[in-house]
Amino acid sequence: MGLSIGVVGATGAVGRKMLEILKERNVAIDKLRVFASARTAGEKLDFNGQEVTVELLTEDVMKDQFDYLLFSAGGSVSEKYAPIAAEAGNIVIDNSSQWRMTEGVPLIVPEVNAHVLKGYQGIIANPNCSTIQMMVALAPLHRQYGIKKIVVSTYQAVSGSGHKAIVELAEQIKDEAYPSNVYPKRIAANCIPHIDVFNENGFTKEELKMVFETQKILEDNTIEVNATTVRIPVYYGHSESIYLELKEAPGIEEVKALLEEAPGVVVMDNPENNHYPTPLEVADTDDTYVGRIRKDLYNPNALSLWVVADNLRKGAATNAVQIIEAIESMK
Ligand code: A2P
Repeated sequence: MGLSIGVVGATGAVGRKMLEILKERNVAIDKLRVFASARTAGEKLDFNGQEVTVELLTEDVMKDQFDYLLFSAGGSVSEKYAPIAAEAGNIVIDNSSQWRMTEGVPLIVPEVNAHVLKGYQGIIANPNCSTIQMMVALAPLHRQYGIKKIVVSTYQAVSGSGHKAIVELAEQIKDEAYPSNVYPKRIAANCIPHIDVFNENGFTKEELKMVFETQKILEDNTIEVNATTVRIPVYYGHSESIYLELKEAPGIEEVKALLEEAPGVVVMDNPENNHYPTPLEVADTDDTYVGRIRKDLYNPNALSLWVVADNLRKGAATNAVQIIEAIESMK
């Protein structure tokens, strides 16, 4: 028998991608329902050639029975509705940051820590997009050598801020006078070292997500993470420059071999032939791409890497659908 699935925030950038990926990965669905706000309730969405009507999100509909509810409608919607759905016995896979650090809520990258899901019922958190791709690439190295410290700078696509941000970039490219509504400064032909709000310690909330989510997923609170997260004028695909200090000195060929074998990782590392990943090349795929793998010039235990993935896919929708697949495969 197929599954009963609901998508909350189905008209948004990630919600639409979730529908696309559910179809693409042939998830066996008996019943699909889609929910959004009063702004779009009643509109029709296409799923696998069939029209599905957008339903208004209410407390009552969240009490209906679903095998899985995928949420991507922002933190306040998740805060209010995810507990109601979970209380009714539904498994919620939440793409917002609302529940990620709550004790007892699994924070899952299926390639890394799917084991945590065994027998679990309730809210499951999908990590931050930048954290997901970093974990896919670094977990195999953590297992082999132990990670001491990560220094990461991100180059994040505007699609991570939703549909409005994609429009803002496209319009600003055409029209210099187009206002900045989503971002604090013009994003076209610019880069903005400011994602989410500033904390009093000088880091942004996005940067702190990368710190605490990494420690939770790798189950090691001693890992030091220093992140600088930057929005750049790219539509799809986040890139990351990562400097990594390990507890042991790694061999560069062994690191490449470990990454080549790692689930979800594609090594693209032949710089002489311009072979390294860029967001334009990897957009619309589900893997995490690693290139520019090199040893630090000074510290024998340190490495640098360049990691790129499609933020709406592996960074959000694909990871959520893989969580469904992981739970189903444990049954
Ligand atoms: P709607 O399209 O009806 O506004 P994005 O991240 O691309 O901005 O998308 C946000 C998604 O979350 C959209 O599907 C949006 O629906 C949905 N959403 C936002 N606020 C609410 C709300 N209060 N109740 C239900 N859905 C919401």
